Amino acid sequence: MGPARAAPVIAIDGPSGTGKGTIARLVKRWLGWHLLDSGALYRVLGFAAERRGLDLDDEQAIAPLALALDVAFVEGEADTRVVLDGADATDAIRTEACGALASRVAAHPAVRAGLLERQRAFRLVPGLVADGRDMGTVVFPDAELKIFLTASAEERARRRHKQLIEKGLSVNLAQLLADITERDRRDTERAVSPLKPATDAVILDTTHSDISAVEDQVKRLVRERGLART
Ligand code: C5P
Repeated sequence: MGPARAAPVIAIDGPSGTGKGTIARLVKRWLGWHLLDSGALYRVLGFAAERRGLDLDDEQAIAPLALALDVAFVEGEADTRVVLDGADATDAIRTEACGALASRVAAHPAVRAGLLERQRAFRLVPGLVADGRDMGTVVFPDAELKIFLTASAEERARRRHKQLIEKGLSVNLAQLLADITERDRRDTERAVSPLKPATDAVILDTTHSDISAVEDQVKRLVRERGLART
């Protein structure tokens, strides 16, 4: 017999505001697989680095923290709690400001290398749904299914605006659009693991689709690849 086959992976990549996180969670529940929210790792790292007063643009200062980071993901009923240094950081890392910190630390090659094994350790039977920017290109290049979700920046800003308003936060749509455009630019233009679809990814534009239409499309692809029991 040959070596044991690695657990299957479904990679879901794309910029923020495409419904990526929601779709990843729906597919995870549907299949009963594990979930990797890789963005949460970069967010926690940005948050921890700032809290320690490190210079986020100093690769040599941040890379050791990427290796030493004491973070755990605890599966709850509705969501995954993110525990940093023993304290719940779930809500703290979800802010727009923390998204910007994440994209700054994520630009460093040594930081990305430092988080690689941590991410691959999530690949466990019966399978993994991996949500991020480079799941299909770098972290799991042999994923069984690669999906790249896109949507116009305007539509993504509108969705994010609605989410924040529902949370009772006051936000300015024009500012959100500017922030999203800036984060896209940083993620797309960085030298290592830039945000781009894998050559074998299925690209789904969600600008004019609601989440249930995207869910149907993704489930169809999962069935077509023989990854679902039903
Ligand atoms: O997906 P989320 O918005 O939580 O990601 C926050 C930031 O982390 C992204 O803007 C990106 O800079 C970085 N990131 C990354 N690679 C990933 C996931 C996230 O560079 N796989």
